[in-house]
Amino acid sequence: MFFSYDTPDHRNLLDQTRQGVIGRPLDRPDGPLKVAGVATYSAEYQRPECAEGVLVCATIAQGRVTCIDTDAALAMPGVLGVFSDKAMLRRPAQGGADKAPVQDVACVEYFGQPVALVVATTFEQATHAAKVLRVEYEPGGEVPHDPEAATSEPAQDPEVLGDLDAAMASAAHSVDLAITTEGHASAALEPHVSIAEWRDDALTIWGSYQMVGHNVKELADALRIAPDRVRIRSAYVGGGFGSKLGISHDALAAAIAARALGRPVRVVLTRQQVFDTIMRRSETRQRLRLAADTGGRLIGLGHEAWVSNLPDENFAEPVTQATAFLYGGDNRHLAVNVARISRLTAGSVRAPGEAVGMQVLEAGMDELAEKIGLDPIVLRKRNLPATLPGKGIPYSSRMLSEALDTGARRFGWDKRKPRPRMQRDGEWWIGMGVASAARVNMMQPAAALVRLEADGMVRVETDQTDIGTGSYAILGQIAGEMLGTPIERIDVALGDSALPMGAGSGGSFGATSTGSAVFRACEAIRDELAHRLGVPTDALELKDGIASGGGKSAPITQLLKGETLERTGRIKPGKTEQDYSQASYGAFFCEVAVNAFTGETRIRRMLGVFGFGRVLNEKTARSQCLGGMVWGIGAALTEELAFDLRDGRLVNHDLAEYHVPVHADIPDLDVVLLDERDAPASPLQAKGVGELGICGAAGAVANAIYNACGVRPRSFPITLDKLL
Ligand code: MOS
Repeated sequence: MFFSYDTPDHRNLLDQTRQGVIGRPLDRPDGPLKVAGVATYSAEYQRPECAEGVLVCATIAQGRVTCIDTDAALAMPGVLGVFSDKAMLRRPAQGGADKAPVQDVACVEYFGQPVALVVATTFEQATHAAKVLRVEYEPGGEVPHDPEAATSEPAQDPEVLGDLDAAMASAAHSVDLAITTEGHASAALEPHVSIAEWRDDALTIWGSYQMVGHNVKELADALRIAPDRVRIRSAYVGGGFGSKLGISHDALAAAIAARALGRPVRVVLTRQQVFDTIMRRSETRQRLRLAADTGGRLIGLGHEAWVSNLPDENFAEPVTQATAFLYGGDNRHLAVNVARISRLTAGSVRAPGEAVGMQVLEAGMDELAEKIGLDPIVLRKRNLPATLPGKGIPYSSRMLSEALDTGARRFGWDKRKPRPRMQRDGEWWIGMGVASAARVNMMQPAAALVRLEADGMVRVETDQTDIGTGSYAILGQIAGEMLGTPIERIDVALGDSALPMGAGSGGSFGATSTGSAVFRACEAIRDELAHRLGVPTDALELKDGIASGGGKSAPITQLLKGETLERTGRIKPGKTEQDYSQASYGAFFCEVAVNAFTGETRIRRMLGVFGFGRVLNEKTARSQCLGGMVWGIGAALTEELAFDLRDGRLVNHDLAEYHVPVHADIPDLDVVLLDERDAPASPLQAKGVGELGICGAAGAVANAIYNACGVRPRSFPITLDKLL
């Protein structure tokens, strides 16, 4: 039975335990295995007789496949089969829905869509055959490729309060801005891969996935078999960024081909196929209206966004997600509209919503502060609502003011020049900018098994994945802290759908959700140990393998009497989710140099201060924040999916042409983690941190650029041409 989290747990059990591992900056146990090449990634599994599959992708934008010359392909050396099945995936699944969008791949919806899989004995043979495979098309279709040329519809009902137009008209100070952001890639370092193997009508897949429990259901649904006939193994995942939340083409194509051929089939996407077929973050066009009174208090807040996706896709980038809870203002209008276009699927990519919504909102707040003549930090602090606007419910915890103040002191904000073009270093204009960080906190249903073995070893088992984020480390730390077990006596098994279903890695919810399930399992074990020791649970203390309390003491192994003690913890969101507005917060400070002659921007320093409840591992949390800030710098300065408007084809479909920041673009970044407890957020009193570091970061960069050179760019990324 799942434990519904209805009442905030204020007991601070993790602050009373004495093992001393929770929160510590412990190394990831998987780290050395990865750098030594010992960790086996999915594509590296050697299955006997494994054949190699290569996807063939459409070379038209819209229409139908009329003929595939399979005879010619099958006559080529080593070719075992050509699959172009009605049951294959035309689009990747969005993740979490337990259903995959199985469609007839003969119907082409976007340029680059997979239409067939060629399988051969070797990868080279399959690649060659895929290259020369003759596919005939009948082009046709009216869906535009340019969002500006498409009609938009509301993604959901707008959130309207009061009268924003009247507030704008009567405001002492206001801004009304139109700012655009370009699409972002989800391309993780490890490409998408699946090795499919059938035995007695049961399918095993070794693959790269974020949420294996859901991915099993998607695959089973697509293959029309029972979920208990599918097992996914995903022990190590080389990044997800949202692109592996749902299954993609490789999974179903490999499964179909392996079943037909009666031998394992491996499908690994090429880098270009990852870019062309998996998942993009939508470009956005945003209108931001801020209306303030003479004292700098917001009386109106409007945030409208236009995004895009394929026809019939449910997902629309939730651009205004943080705007709904971050700042006050009685007159509000928040809306997201989606245009139907023919380009690859838009989906969840690296903090969907906040990443691009916050960078525009925070750029607007900077502009408003300047109009009012207020310090931008003061403006933000002045507009933090006491309760959630329109709903009146409290915030679970919010350390935004503290983050702004702490950051200002540490960064030397008092040295910022009040106006642009006041600080010059050779040919560079120097400027500073600030922005708030915010990302919603979500808990997801999760289960985990904890086993206390007769010899005192602890084993944690859940299908939770580790996408490079630290799941192996933190789940072990929670168990170690709760059971008084040194970290080297803990073993964590993850990423296997045969284990209890964790939350998966997504939406910054993995650690708190699955961690809470581990916590609950350990509580149950503590209850039993207290009973065996003959003390009330409250009096039980566990440290270094010794149970004590109430004047009694015994080695834990003695209480186990040669047996293994195991409990499963299960948690799901409950009333605390409705009763509180829950989000993680922070602040970004950035110093840039803008070249007065070339317009080139260099980040000089950047600081992020974050409050996200209890820190489970200082090192992995900090690393998440650093990664997020690097994303933010990418969104601010370089990242941009370029589409050919004639056919919706992605032009820069690799990491040579799609520019993410490299080491030379990133100076020493500084991260401060605030000490916070958030009881309504989870029994761990922890909130999500995974994506927090990107949410607003690009706004701080843009504001620093303005403070340096006096240009307010109206489109991201802020490439040098926009500053001249
Ligand atoms: Mo995240 S974009 O939910 O993997």
